[in-house]
Amino acid sequence: MRLAGRTVVVTGASQGIGAATAQAMAGRGAVVVLVARGAETLRSVAERCSRSGGRAVALPADLADVDQVRALAERVLAEFGAPDVLVNNAGAGRWLFLDDTPTAELTAMTALPFTAALHLTREFLPAMRARGTGRVVNVNSPVSRLPIPGATGYAAARYALRGLTAALRQDLRGTGVGVSEVVPGKVSSRYFANNPGAEQRIPAVARLIPTVPPERVAREIVHVVEHDRAERVFPWQLRAFEVAGRLCPRLTDYLTWRTGVHR
Ligand SMILES: NC(=O)c1ccc[n+]([C@@H]2O[C@H](COP(=O)([O-])OP(=O)(O)OC[C@H]3O[C@@H](n4cnc5c(N)ncnc54)[C@H](OP(=O)(O)O)[C@@H]3O)[C@@H](O)[C@H]2O)c1
Repeated sequence: MRLAGRTVVVTGASQGIGAATAQAMAGRGAVVVLVARGAETLRSVAERCSRSGGRAVALPADLADVDQVRALAERVLAEFGAPDVLVNNAGAGRWLFLDDTPTAELTAMTALPFTAALHLTREFLPAMRARGTGRVVNVNSPVSRLPIPGATGYAAARYALRGLTAALRQDLRGTGVGVSEVVPGKVSSRYFANNPGAEQRIPAVARLIPTVPPERVAREIVHVVEHDRAERVFPWQLRAFEVAGRLCPRLTDYLTWRTGVHR
């Protein structure tokens, strides 16, 4: 799909991967709808998008709140019509053992990214299917493939997002609406500052995988949209790990456990 003139909704667009993706899409001439809670930060991303030649509109919403998701979708459909691309990127969650996770935090880390993506995609699907074109891109974590110790709620939400991606792909086969999953390794965003304690739980074996900047993730997201690709797992060292995880699951499980956090 060529991005010029297309409507792209990016969640989690106030910083990190989402902000970089919004700028990359705007730079290609897309009209970008920016979603996150922080109205001020969204506005400054919108200004940066305009400077890169595109058009961006900030629509603040708390995607953990289903009513706000519905109101957001109604507004997008009324003002822009069915999005051509939906990037489900907003995500949060500290890395904690299940029984160390407060109930409210467990609910919040499941809401973002999983139930937010579930509800927002559902809101847009009828219009996207009726038009017969479009793409849903889910940004996911390596933990959706390679579970690590001490990040139970986070991992469960990412496995659920992976399940949503796979199930949607089956449902939408032949409709003209594609589904992609983009899985970067560690990214130099503020994720680990925003979710304290998580960084210390990255297993030592994963340090072999280089950190990538948000702009690299944005380029990969643009790539899957422009080339109708189903999946990008990168950098190549993470891809190698993922393949090893499928071929020798016991060995990779052991290595991530052995070099991960223990109680
Ligand atoms: N960083 C990494 O190493 C890495 C690697 C692989 C995958 N990922 C995944 O990629 C996604 C984005 O990560 P990132 O690194 O860009 O993180 P980030 O810099 O912390 O950005 C998270 C974004 O999500 C938004 N958000 C959080 N809670 C929200 C809510 N309730 N409603 C609406 N928006 C909300 C935040 O905006 P507001 O706070 O303004 O709402 C922000 O824009 C996450 O799902 C993460 O797990 C990250």
